[in-house]
Amino acid sequence: MAGKVVLSYSGGLDTTVCIPLLKEKYGFEEVITVTVDIGQPEKDIAEAEERGRKYADKHYTVDAKKEFIESLFMLIKANGDYEGYVLGTSIARPVIAKKTVEIAEKEKADAIAHGCTGKGNDQLRFENVYLQHGFRVIAPMRELNLTREWEIDYARNKGIEIKVTKEKPWSIDENLWSRSVEGGKLEDPSFSPPEEIFEWTVSPEKSPNTPEVLKIEFERGVPVALNGERLDGYTLIKRLNEIGGRHGVGRIDMMEDRVLGLKARENYEHPAATILITAHRDLEKLVLSRRELKFKKVVEEEWAELVYYGLTNDPLFDALNAFIDKTQERVTGWVKMRLYKGSATPVGRGSEYALYSEELTSFDTTLIDQRLAEGYSAFHGLQGRLYREIMRRKAKREKTDQYSDS
Ligand code: ARG
Repeated sequence: MAGKVVLSYSGGLDTTVCIPLLKEKYGFEEVITVTVDIGQPEKDIAEAEERGRKYADKHYTVDAKKEFIESLFMLIKANGDYEGYVLGTSIARPVIAKKTVEIAEKEKADAIAHGCTGKGNDQLRFENVYLQHGFRVIAPMRELNLTREWEIDYARNKGIEIKVTKEKPWSIDENLWSRSVEGGKLEDPSFSPPEEIFEWTVSPEKSPNTPEVLKIEFERGVPVALNGERLDGYTLIKRLNEIGGRHGVGRIDMMEDRVLGLKARENYEHPAATILITAHRDLEKLVLSRRELKFKKVVEEEWAELVYYGLTNDPLFDALNAFIDKTQERVTGWVKMRLYKGSATPVGRGSEYALYSEELTSFDTTLIDQRLAEGYSAFHGLQGRLYREIMRRKAKREKTDQYSDS
């Protein structure tokens, strides 16, 4: 009676173990796996497809690169980072969830299942979308309180081929934009990440000894060209990942606060994201007003938190996007980025909307009469000067009272 279930499928250990569990423990007759292509390595998609075909009753691979890149463009405009790392996993989740819902609707499924645990963020991000579309949610990992050790043994018993080993137990999440590695010895925050966990970046020590300078052009906050060549978002990001990766750009090892309040140790690599957001922020500093920049920071923090929490269906998200899009109307121009030994630094920028005027600011021009600043300066800091003076007099009075008392 349980019927048909659609499973959001990566091909990894957790989601593969879900297939027999959905039948054995939940009584589903049909398990349909759905792998959503958001630019993860092609071999991962091919592998998921092969495993889905082998272990499930039916498999779908759905291409969502276009939708994902649209989300990434919005993320660039919002300089989206949560607690200092560029958002990666969370921005992909609603895209994956929506595509999974489309298949579930087409298949008239009775439920949607996912392989997330009850300790992370992804359960919340996926389920918010599934529930929105009226689906019953099945979360075997969480509901059956499973551990990775148990899963490995269970998979072995079921004849499921497994890649993770006790020596390499990394839990990896990867898409076009970012790669995250957790688990195993990395769960000890004092343990330094071994070189083997990185796949997109070389260690800065092994990167070239000569810097590389790139020119990135933006139109309305979105990157459109690299070194004078116009590129679509997918190609641009892919290329920047390669170039940045060669220079060891975009690695981060950090402590992160999950939605539930648990702290987690995370390792990310995202060269293109680091380069593009650093460049975008730099261009904004050239074209946005001081007040816009200050206020946008507040907006960005809210924006990133909504994405991280999987709450992009909140009306606030639409309102923040409207504000961000308005500011981006003038974020058109170029930035030169210098890549060297793990760093990506802006070294030049230009825009027709620059609020900078060399003629006004230069040491060498008299376009604006600098003597006028004298009047401004007379008022500037006036309250502070008054306050200090009052306190000085008060202290002096107290000192003389003290002497007269004795
Ligand atoms: N902590 C990050 C987030 O919630 C990434 C988690 C990715 N998952 C993984 N198994 N590496 O956005």
